[in-house]
Amino acid sequence: MRLHPEAAERNERLKGIAPQVLDALSPLGKRAFFPKGIPFQAGQAGGCAINATIGQITDGAGNPIPLAPLAEKLKGLPPKDAFLYSPIQGRERARKAWHAKLVAEDARAASIVLPSVTAGICNALSMAADLFFTPGDTLTIPDLYWDNYEQVFDMRLEGERATYPFYNAEGGFNVEGLRATLAAQKGKVHALLNFPSNPSGYSPTPAELEAIADVLVEAAKDRPVVVYCDDAYHGLVFEPTATPKSLFYSLLNRSENLIPLKCDGITKELSFFGGRVGFLSFGVKAEAAAILVDKAMSLVRATIGSPVGLSQYLMEEELLDPRHNDEFERLRRVMEGRYRKLKAALSAPTPHWTVFPFNAGCFCLIELREGLDAEVVRQALIQDESVGVVSQQGRYLRLAFCSLKEEAIEPLVQAIARVCGKM
Ligand SMILES: Cc1ncc(COP(=O)(O)O)c(C=O)c1O
Repeated sequence: MRLHPEAAERNERLKGIAPQVLDALSPLGKRAFFPKGIPFQAGQAGGCAINATIGQITDGAGNPIPLAPLAEKLKGLPPKDAFLYSPIQGRERARKAWHAKLVAEDARAASIVLPSVTAGICNALSMAADLFFTPGDTLTIPDLYWDNYEQVFDMRLEGERATYPFYNAEGGFNVEGLRATLAAQKGKVHALLNFPSNPSGYSPTPAELEAIADVLVEAAKDRPVVVYCDDAYHGLVFEPTATPKSLFYSLLNRSENLIPLKCDGITKELSFFGGRVGFLSFGVKAEAAAILVDKAMSLVRATIGSPVGLSQYLMEEELLDPRHNDEFERLRRVMEGRYRKLKAALSAPTPHWTVFPFNAGCFCLIELREGLDAEVVRQALIQDESVGVVSQQGRYLRLAFCSLKEEAIEPLVQAIARVCGKM
């Protein structure tokens, strides 16, 4: 493996600070370093009277020269924030605003360094995987998972998967399944946990969350354990028994071998789907995390170049607005109304499916009875009922209540019942 002297320098420092983190890095993670190239040099020249560094068209005084139609549309926004490049690690104001949000959610977040900005949550996951997941490694994941992990880990990184049933016999999260699946693997392991879950709509109880954390700590007794916390649906919780907390916080400062990574962002939490701002937080000691941020910056340079500045600015304004918490609560209640309607609609007994326990997020998952093919049912729903749902793994239908009016929920369930009844 060719290692640039700058990368070797980062790795040498990491070895001194947190050798377990160095050990856990993938070959790409080991090679990564933020180069002293154009963004670095432009950053250093930021305060100069004459700055002939960056290829960014300005009036010579640091202001953009926008084109009129764009400027008209973005009237009211500070032109520099709307039109100029963001720093590679993300805008300081955006990182601080997100960090403050995490600390407000859980004081344990105060110990982590500012998160790196990514181009959405999927990009945060992909960067986390690039840093730690060596092609051919195995991802430990419950059997009900967001299908796009297959692109990130299997397709892109040639990963294997070790799955365990998501639910235990009591309908709770299968903590023992996680324990056994980790125990069956030797050496470095990767565990991905996504709560509230897509597709199951399940968020663990506080006790389950702590039990999951304990299992991960136990698994890290004598080898690196990288934990990817996908918190895309954070905060969308509808039952008092479901924890609104991220697993990430329960993993901080628990073991030198445990490397918790938090992937989250504005997509669902700020209902800003096209904004494409995500965050990658490193739950290791600050000096080691600073090196990981540097390595993440090199991945940004290698892929998207620089994160979107405009939507970071809009995000900052939303988070700093005193109405933000109330606004999120308003959104959560709209979702809760739909959730309750769906719970009620699915409570009637039916021979055609069983419903997996759900209490949070945007979805619920039903398992069709023996003899029904989810893909055939899905297509019949489109053809016969003008109803769209997602089929998964041949047996399941995922219902996205987040995108339905309350009035459409009962008809959705009736349509599925009609189609299944005909088969
Ligand atoms: C579980 C989960 N993680 C990550 C994402 C990706 O979020 P983003 O659109 O910000 O990339 C999604 C989006 O559907 C998701 O369901």
